[in-house]
Amino acid sequence: MEILLDAIDRNGWAVMPGFLKIDASRRLRDECREACENGEFRPAGVGRGKDLKVREDIRRDQVLWLKPGEFSKEQEAYLAKLELLRLALNQRFFLGLFEFEGHFAIYPDGAFYKAHLDRHAGTNDRIVTAILYLNEDWQPGDGGELKLWTIPGEKDGPFELIEPRMGTLVCFLAGDFWHEVMPARKTRMSVTGWFRRV
Ligand code: OGA
Ligand code: MN
Repeated sequence: MEILLDAIDRNGWAVMPGFLKIDASRRLRDECREACENGEFRPAGVGRGKDLKVREDIRRDQVLWLKPGEFSKEQEAYLAKLELLRLALNQRFFLGLFEFEGHFAIYPDGAFYKAHLDRHAGTNDRIVTAILYLNEDWQPGDGGELKLWTIPGEKDGPFELIEPRMGTLVCFLAGDFWHEVMPARKTRMSVTGWFRRV
């Protein structure tokens, strides 16, 4: 956890392989897959409230929101780790993070999410993005990397390509870092969410 906090302190973003153990990650992956097979996912939207729209030119992932009060045991296990992270972030950076909202995401073969910030226009409730990847045996040719531009506010210049490997957590300041999901060449799964200030 300390390494992750140091990276956020230095750069505003961090990648942590093995944030969630392999067994716990596999159980979340299985749950994600089953929910998808049961038709519980919906095409992800862009914008919020009455402006929420499905825009296949911008993003093609499918999502299933985690529902407070209905968390599964596997979800609880991950959320418990995120809770420790939330407290650590607050303690170190005085962020006043209050809660987490998140969803499973599935990118079918060919799906992508064009460059964006995670903060909606006119809002500042999403402070930190946290993404856990659920893909075992991910290979370089499989696409679906997270392209993260590493200078705050810039959509050009230096970037990192982060492979969506099982158990890896990526964290960054939601309003500062432009990012994009490269087209996936096979089904790509994750739990994506945000620490919010209300
Ligand atoms: C998002 C997002 C990135 C990823 O859902 O807002 O940018 O790597 N996801 O899944
Ligand atoms: Mn995003």
